Amino acid sequence: MDLIQQCSLKVPLHILIFLLQIHFISTYPTPMKCSDTTRICTSFLAFKPQPKHTMALIQSMFDVLPSDITVESNGWDYIFIRKNCSCASGMNKYVSDTTFTVRSNEGFVNELVMDAYDGLAFLPNKTRWARKGSVISLRLFCGCSSGVWNYLVSYVMRDGDSVESLASRFGVSMDSIETVNGIDNPDSVTVGSLYYIPLDSG
Ligand SMILES: *[C@@H]1O[C@H](CO)[C@@H](O)[C@H](O)[C@H]1NC(C)=O
Ligand SMILES: *[C@@H]1O[C@H](CO)[C@@H](O)[C@H](O)[C@H]1NC(C)=O
Repeated sequence: MDLIQQCSLKVPLHILIFLLQIHFISTYPTPMKCSDTTRICTSFLAFKPQPKHTMALIQSMFDVLPSDITVESNGWDYIFIRKNCSCASGMNKYVSDTTFTVRSNEGFVNELVMDAYDGLAFLPNKTRWARKGSVISLRLFCGCSSGVWNYLVSYVMRDGDSVESLASRFGVSMDSIETVNGIDNPDSVTVGSLYYIPLDSG
């Protein structure tokens, strides 16, 4: 009797977890491909801090020094985080390493990472419960320019953003954003997806 009750509780939970994983896999951005695994470049990640994000927390989340953090001007409330970006051998994708320290015992690590990094980090390999104090190795989405651009900024598209608004905000042409990201139709960008904004200078 006990066993039956346990099973009837566990099965739906497992199905739920399975569905959640499928959901994350199918909506999560794919990193930028690369082939030269000796390549290292400077890259930037655009991050919109919430009130809970102190400077110390941001430094820890991204494994950077204060000098690697720039606040966006013009009242956008974003910060740009400078990170070395490299072409990971094996997977042949551009990534940048960091660690995430779990600060609660609630929920899945995947969800905490998703919430903390807002689409800028790869989800960890396995679904596991959060344990306060554990340190998770993570990889961030970054890119190195293979064209005329000096830097690429990793940017997660928000409600209200468009290729046009990003072009004017970052002072680059719509064309170059479309080229770097393989966008055919600038009206069909996806909120929550990761894009790379090419920059001439940082
Ligand atoms: C970034 O890469 C440069 C060039 O390879 C290296 O000199 C520098 O130490 C790296 N910085 C960090 C924080 O790893
Ligand atoms: C996931 O695991 C594989 C194999 O163990 C490893 O190569 C890969 O780097 C891991 N991914 C992340 C994001 O840590």
